[in-house]
Amino acid sequence: MYNSALVFNPSDGTSKRFSVPVVQELASQNLHSLPERYIRSEKERPNNSTPHQLDIPVIDMAMFSRDSDLCRQKELEKLGTACQQWGFFQAVNHGIPLSLMETMKANVREFIQLPLEEKLKYKIQEIEGYGQTFVASDDQILDWADVMSLTTLPPENRKMELWPTKPSDFRETVDQYALEIQKFGNTVLCLLSENAGLKPDHFINMCGKMIQYMRLNYYPPCPRPDLVLGISPHSDASAFTVLSQDDETVGLQICKDGEWVPVQPIPGALVINIGDMLEVISNGIYKSIEHRAVTNMDRDRISIAMFCSPSVETEVGPAPELIDELHPCQYRRFIRADYVKNLYSGKLEGKKKKIEFAKIML
Ligand code: OGA
Ligand code: NI
Repeated sequence: MYNSALVFNPSDGTSKRFSVPVVQELASQNLHSLPERYIRSEKERPNNSTPHQLDIPVIDMAMFSRDSDLCRQKELEKLGTACQQWGFFQAVNHGIPLSLMETMKANVREFIQLPLEEKLKYKIQEIEGYGQTFVASDDQILDWADVMSLTTLPPENRKMELWPTKPSDFRETVDQYALEIQKFGNTVLCLLSENAGLKPDHFINMCGKMIQYMRLNYYPPCPRPDLVLGISPHSDASAFTVLSQDDETVGLQICKDGEWVPVQPIPGALVINIGDMLEVISNGIYKSIEHRAVTNMDRDRISIAMFCSPSVETEVGPAPELIDELHPCQYRRFIRADYVKNLYSGKLEGKKKKIEFAKIML
């Protein structure tokens, strides 16, 4: 059973379609050996012997509703340090109703369990719909995952024909969830701006009109998790990403000082990471860190990634207020569309290819 992968070229609107297996179908076949296209080179394979177990910082968002007391200041510093040194944190007490998060996960699961022909009604077009977005050739090594992507905000950018009508409350739930994530994301952006010594709305203003894009990742169980990756190492193209992951199954790993550190799920928490755009806007203060996902032998895993980014017409560059003799300008200014062009023209691999193009060599 096959699905589509599509390489979209935003500069001329053309796209190239490739056929890729539906991983969920492969996984249900009790395979004795893995198809070769999923087997990673020795160097890329997950190595489970992580020497030490580090935990990514946990931020208690409830601390920020207090006015200018010591707790708030301490938590703000913790948040700032997390985004400078890890590029990642987990947020608890984030204010998004747990029931909405649960309904969202239930909808994603229900969608995944629909018969394939139902899901193929929403086959990928450009960068939205059911199918892969980062496959650039017929022999590229593939991720052990099925993906559904949609632009969620602003509402006028939605391609409603690609929004599933089954399960019946999918659209309504995604709509509510998107708005909650936007509200929460704005809070985080304000805090990061404040922590960088700027007015709280500075980063929001620099991002201009924000676009929110949702990626539903489904990682089926894999008979040989030691040989494959669920998602290739990459940094996110967003300003920041808000991820809701399975409460029990570990999969996400982030690259911390050259080592892959698993992100242990905290039930009800959200995982937030800095994307390339905020690294640029903050002149490198906040780091967009490479991450990947691994698979499990007897458990599947879902994740819901919400990418919040400046729109394609926005000119992105470091905040002038963050540049001085001690902190030289690290990135040249660019129109986001030029960055996006780079992004979708190839496979998802590491950070270099995408953001290096704007890096000023010091
Ligand atoms: C992503 C991503 C990680 C995960 O979709 O960009 O990094 O755990 N996902 O699914
Ligand atoms: Ni990512």
